[in-house]
Amino acid sequence: MAVTQTEPADRTSAPPKRTLADLAHGPEAIRLLVDAVLDYAIFLIGPDGNVLTWNQGAERIKGYKAHEVIGKHISMFYTAKDVEAGRPERVLRQAERQGRAYDEGWRLRKDGTRFWADASVHALYDHGRLYGFAKITRDMTDARAAAERERQLDVEREARLAAEEALRARDRFLSIASHELKTPVASLQLSVDSLLLNRERGNLDQGRIERGLERIERAVRRMSALLVELLDVSRLERGATEFHFTDVDLSGIAEEVIDRFAGVEPKDRILFDLKPTLVQADAARIEQVISNLLDNALKYSSRPGPVHVAITPTEQGALIEVRDRGVGLSLDRKDRLFEPFSRGDNAVSVPGMGLGLFISREIVAGHGGRISAESGGDGKGTTFRVTLPRTQSDRAHAPG
Ligand SMILES: Nc1ncnc2c1ncn2[C@@H]1O[C@H](COP(=O)(O)OP(=O)(O)O)[C@@H](O)[C@H]1O
Ligand SMILES: [Mg+2]
Repeated sequence: MAVTQTEPADRTSAPPKRTLADLAHGPEAIRLLVDAVLDYAIFLIGPDGNVLTWNQGAERIKGYKAHEVIGKHISMFYTAKDVEAGRPERVLRQAERQGRAYDEGWRLRKDGTRFWADASVHALYDHGRLYGFAKITRDMTDARAAAERERQLDVEREARLAAEEALRARDRFLSIASHELKTPVASLQLSVDSLLLNRERGNLDQGRIERGLERIERAVRRMSALLVELLDVSRLERGATEFHFTDVDLSGIAEEVIDRFAGVEPKDRILFDLKPTLVQADAARIEQVISNLLDNALKYSSRPGPVHVAITPTEQGALIEVRDRGVGLSLDRKDRLFEPFSRGDNAVSVPGMGLGLFISREIVAGHGGRISAESGGDGKGTTFRVTLPRTQSDRAHAPG
């Protein structure tokens, strides 16, 4: 039928419809585009800083209608503090010089509330003459708040993890410290019980008294050594340790330590090579470090395996080396050994609280020096090295 081939009357008589594609090349296209944008305030500013145009996005973000802002200076959007600091002008001048400027900060809405603006200002030039500026502003208040919440959550999460770790550390501390204290306390108890029993039976002779006293003395010494370690750790962890630096010869300190240990070790077990080495150090603290390292070397190797102590002057200061041929270190644990209460799997049957190396590391750090461990692996022996700067004013370039 003819009807199907006939255009509807209203269509044939109406003017041809324009499509967006037609508009895209016309003069209105940009205005349409800018005006349709709701999420960005896009407007033109004259060279004097006065607002020239206003889009829907600007109205939505800032709360002003076009007639309320056109012809007014952009400082009306800034806080009093920013205006006083000359910020609006400064941003425009920066854009003028560099082509564009970014400006992020708190701005004011018409109703006086603040929003976090993320803006860019672009200078518009015509044949080298400043024409004005195009400014594009986005309201980032929500995004900023979300980022801030996220950051806050991260902080809280970290605090929670730290608190959990502190709890675990406390448990570890209680279990290790009480376990270690139990041994000398039990030995003390045994000795005293035995003395009392013998007195009751009337056979407390001089020999028994002396053996008992020796056992008691050993147990008390062990207990006070443990307490000193615990106190040291708490002081070092709080950063409350003071160092008293004087000029000392490390070889003299090492000799004293070796003498002390040599009394209870087989002859020639402790070998040494001590060169006169002058440094500025806290003698008592360095003695503690050498003593800890030598104690470990002897403890973690079996008699009569030799242990070497060497003191050597170096270009920057001093090198202390303590080497043994004992149980060695499993490589993955090397760094953790210096943490408080950290003990290796190699230490299960050896007494100790896992504090000696932590204390030593803190003392060495207090001197501006370094401590490190090296081992060929299980059963291959261990070498500990301490480097110290010669003087305390050398600390900045302390040996590595
Ligand atoms: N010379 C060494 N040889 C092998 N392992 C060692 C040596 N020195 C230290 N370690 C390991 O490092 C751990 C921590 O040492 P330290 O802090 O002195 O504590 P402790 O001697 O009380 O265990 C030890 O438990 C042990 O596993
Ligand atoms: Mg130790």
